[in-house]
Amino acid sequence: MLRYCILLAALVAIALGEADHDTFKDCSRIEFCTALRKNVIDSSAQFFADLGELEETDEKVTIPLSNENGDSLILQISLLPFSRARIQVLQPGNDRYELVDVLDGEPETIPFSSVNLANNTLTLIPEGEEYSIVVNRGAPFTVEFYLERELQTIFDGSRLLMENTEDSQAFTFGVSFNDAQRLYGLYHHASKLGLRETGDDYDPFRLRNLDVSFYELDSPMALYGSVPVLYGHSVSHTSGIFIHNAAEQWVDINYGEDSASTYFMIGGGSLDIFVLFGPEPKDVVRQYTSLTGTAHLPQIWTLGYHQCRFTYETQEEVKEVVALFDVHDIPLDVIWLDDGHSNANRYFEFNPENFTNPEEMFNNISSTGRRAVSISDPHIKIADDYNVYTGAKNKYFVKWENGSDFEGICWPGLSSWIDFLNPEASEYYSGWYAFDKFNGSTETLAGIWNDMNEPSVFDNSLEKTFPHELLHYGNVRHRDVHGIYGMLQTKATYHGLMKRDEGKKRPFILTRSHFAGSQRYAAMWTGDNTAGWGYLAISFSECMTSNILGIVFCGADIGGFFDTPDDELLQRWYQGAVWLPFFRGHSNKGTPRREPYVFSEDVQTVISNAIKLRYKHIPVLYTLFYEHATTGDPIIRPLFYEYHELLDYDNHLLAGTDILAVGVFESNATSVEVTFPGKASALWYRIDDESWESHNGEEVVPIPVTIDTSPVFYRGGSIISRKDIKRPSTTQMVDDPYTLYINLDSEQSASGRLYVDDYTSFAYREEELFLYIRFIYVLDVHAVQIEYLGGNAAEFSILVRSIIVNGRSPEGRIISNTYTTTRDGLPLESINIGKLIVYTSERNFKKVFGKKEICWVA
Ligand code: NOJ
Repeated sequence: MLRYCILLAALVAIALGEADHDTFKDCSRIEFCTALRKNVIDSSAQFFADLGELEETDEKVTIPLSNENGDSLILQISLLPFSRARIQVLQPGNDRYELVDVLDGEPETIPFSSVNLANNTLTLIPEGEEYSIVVNRGAPFTVEFYLERELQTIFDGSRLLMENTEDSQAFTFGVSFNDAQRLYGLYHHASKLGLRETGDDYDPFRLRNLDVSFYELDSPMALYGSVPVLYGHSVSHTSGIFIHNAAEQWVDINYGEDSASTYFMIGGGSLDIFVLFGPEPKDVVRQYTSLTGTAHLPQIWTLGYHQCRFTYETQEEVKEVVALFDVHDIPLDVIWLDDGHSNANRYFEFNPENFTNPEEMFNNISSTGRRAVSISDPHIKIADDYNVYTGAKNKYFVKWENGSDFEGICWPGLSSWIDFLNPEASEYYSGWYAFDKFNGSTETLAGIWNDMNEPSVFDNSLEKTFPHELLHYGNVRHRDVHGIYGMLQTKATYHGLMKRDEGKKRPFILTRSHFAGSQRYAAMWTGDNTAGWGYLAISFSECMTSNILGIVFCGADIGGFFDTPDDELLQRWYQGAVWLPFFRGHSNKGTPRREPYVFSEDVQTVISNAIKLRYKHIPVLYTLFYEHATTGDPIIRPLFYEYHELLDYDNHLLAGTDILAVGVFESNATSVEVTFPGKASALWYRIDDESWESHNGEEVVPIPVTIDTSPVFYRGGSIISRKDIKRPSTTQMVDDPYTLYINLDSEQSASGRLYVDDYTSFAYREEELFLYIRFIYVLDVHAVQIEYLGGNAAEFSILVRSIIVNGRSPEGRIISNTYTTTRDGLPLESINIGKLIVYTSERNFKKVFGKKEICWVA
C-alpha cells in the first residue's frame, strides 16, 4: 500500500512538472539526519586530545581522543606538500569503509620540521611549507589550520560524534572558515554559486546521487552527483576542504560575523578530510585537483556542437538530421544515439528493426566529417538470450546480503547492475565496447554516454536508487560507496574505449552521475533540466561551480530537457551555452522537434550564429583544456575566481582570463547590466556586436542587446587566437589558419597563449608532441613576437591569416585595424619563422626571419 501511495504521488508530481518530494526525502525523513541535526553533544561526550600521548612518525602524528564516557578515537594528521593537509578521525576496532577509488594516487606526505607541545596546544610545522596546524587539547578539542600565521579553517571537535552500531555508522563534525563571506561547492545542486545559509526553513544541502525528475532551482535536494568540496572565500583569502567519503552527506551552513561554519552529517564510511590552505581561489582549486586529478585533453571534435534527442528512432532519421544541418549550413560535430538505437535497451545491440545497418549509417555520418555517440546505461536487462546478461549473471552483479543478484526495474524492465567495484566485473563490462563484441559499432561511434548511473532504479520507495544494504565486491556495503557507482561505470567505459582504440584515442564519455575525480574519465552534463529561464541561468552557476571543483567538461541540455522553450528562450540558450565547455542540444520524448533548422529563418540565423561563434573560439577552449590538464585550472570561472571582491555574479562567466560572457537570462531584454571587472584602467572590448566598443574596469553599465546580440567581451591585454573560416565541423577546420585578435590594454600591450597538437591521441602527454606558444604584441615595432612555452613542436604549423588590432586611442577613440595576410583568402607566400608558418602578403608584412616575430607595416 505504501509503495502504491508513493507511486501515485510520484506520478502526480511528474504530471505537475515538480520534483517529487514524496519520493525524495528531506532531512526530517532520514533517520540519521533528523537525529543528528539538532544534536547537542553533552560535556561527558566531548572529546579531548591527549596531547601527551601523541605518536609521531615521518608521515603523520596520531593523538588519542577520549571523553568522560570512556569512548576513544584517534586523531591522525598528515602533512602534505603544496599547502595541503589531511586529518582523519579513526575509530579503533570498527570496520569503517575507507574509500579507495577516488584519489588520483596516494598523496605524498612531508615530514614535520617541528612538533611543539606547550600549554595544552600542539603545533605542527611542516618542512618547506608556509602553513602550520595547531591542536588544542579541549574538551572539546579543536584543530586550527594557519597559512602564514593567518587562521584559515578550524575543525570543531565540539560537534564530533561517531555512531557505531549494527544499523548505523553515521558521524558528524563541524568545520568553520575564518572570515569567509561565501561558501562555494557541494556540487551537485541547482544552486547559485554562493551557497545559502540553511536553517529551520531551509534543509541542509544533501549529497546523494539520485535521479530527480523536474529538479528544482535553489534547492538543497540531492541531484545526480556528489562533489563533497567546500571553499570558504573572502576578499582576502580562500581555503577549502574535501571530504573524502562517498556515503550520503547532509551539510548545514551558517554565516556568522567573522566566519562561516558548517556541520556535516554523514551516513557511513570514514572521517577523512583534506584541508586546502589556499590562499587564493586559484590555489585551492589547484590543491584540490592535485588530489583528484584533472581531465585529459578532449579530442577536438568534442568541443563542437552536439545534437541529441530522446530519441532518434531510425537510422534514416539520424542520417537525415545530419544532412539537414548541412542543407541549412549549421555546423555540427556529433549526432547522439539515445536509447532508440538499442535493442529495447539491451545495450551493445542495435535495434534490429530500425537500425538494421549501423555500419552504413556510420559511414554516412563520417563521410560528412561527423561522429556519433551512443548511450550505454549500467542496468543490464535480465534475459537469457542476452549475452551481456548471461555472462555476468551470478558473478558480476551487485548483490543482496544473501548473495543473490539484485534485481530492479529500469528502462529495459527487470534488470541487474554490474558491480564496478569488482575489477573482473569492470573488465568484463569494458570488453563489450570492443568492435567485435559491439556488433555494428565502428570508429565513427566515437564516444559513449553513461546515463542513469546514480544508479537509477524505478522504485520510488527506494528514492529511485539502490537500497543501502546491497553488497559489492569485497563485502562493501552500498551505503558506503553510493557516490562513486556512476564514476566507476565511467572508469570501466574509459578502459573499454582505450582497449577498443588501442590507446590511440582520447576516450570521450558523457556521464550523468559523478563524484569527486570523475573528471579523469568523463564529461558531465547537468541532467534533466526544464525549458525555463531560471534553468538557463542556473546552467552558468552549475557549470562554473563544477569547473572550480575539477569537473570542467560540463554542459546543460540546450533548450531544457523537459517542456518546450519558446523561440526567444531557445535563442538565448544557444547564445549562453556557447561558453559552457560541453555544447549539446537535447530534448525529451514527446516534445516538438527542436533541431536548429526547424525554426524560422530569423531564429535559425541567431542560433546558427551562436554555433558559429562557438566554433571560432574552439582554439581558445582547447588551449584552456590543455592548461586545465596540466594545472587543474578551470576552463570557465566565476568572477570571484579572478577578481576576489566580485562575489555574486552568477550571470557573468569568464572563459579563461580573457573572455567575459554575460548571459541574457530574461525575456524581452533590451539591455543587460554588466560589471566590468578589474581596475579602472582595465579595458574590455565588446565582440558580439562587432562594435569593439570598449569599457573600463569598475564600470557597471547597462549594455544594450537585441535578439542578435548577447554580451561578450575580450579583455584588453589579451590576444585571442580564433579560427574564423566557417566550416561544417571541426574535421574540416583542422588545417585552417588563425585570426589573431590583439586587444590592447591601456599600456598598448597584449599577449595570449595558444596550444595545438594532433587533437586526437595521447602523444601530447606521452611524447610531448604539441606546440604551446605565447603571442606577445610589441608596440615599438608593431609586431607580434612568439614565445615558445613548451612541446616538441616540429610536427605542427600555425598559420596566421589575419590580425585584428583593437585599441583605444589616447582621445578614447576605438581603433580596430585588420591586417590580412592573404589576398582573396589564399595564402600568397609562406615564411617559416622558427616553428611557425605565417602566410603573408608582401604589401602588409615585412619579414623578420628567425626571430620568431610576425611584423607588419601598418
Ligand atoms: C535520462 C537522461 O537524463 C536523458 O537525457 C535521456 O534522454 C533519457 N534518460 C533516455 O535515455
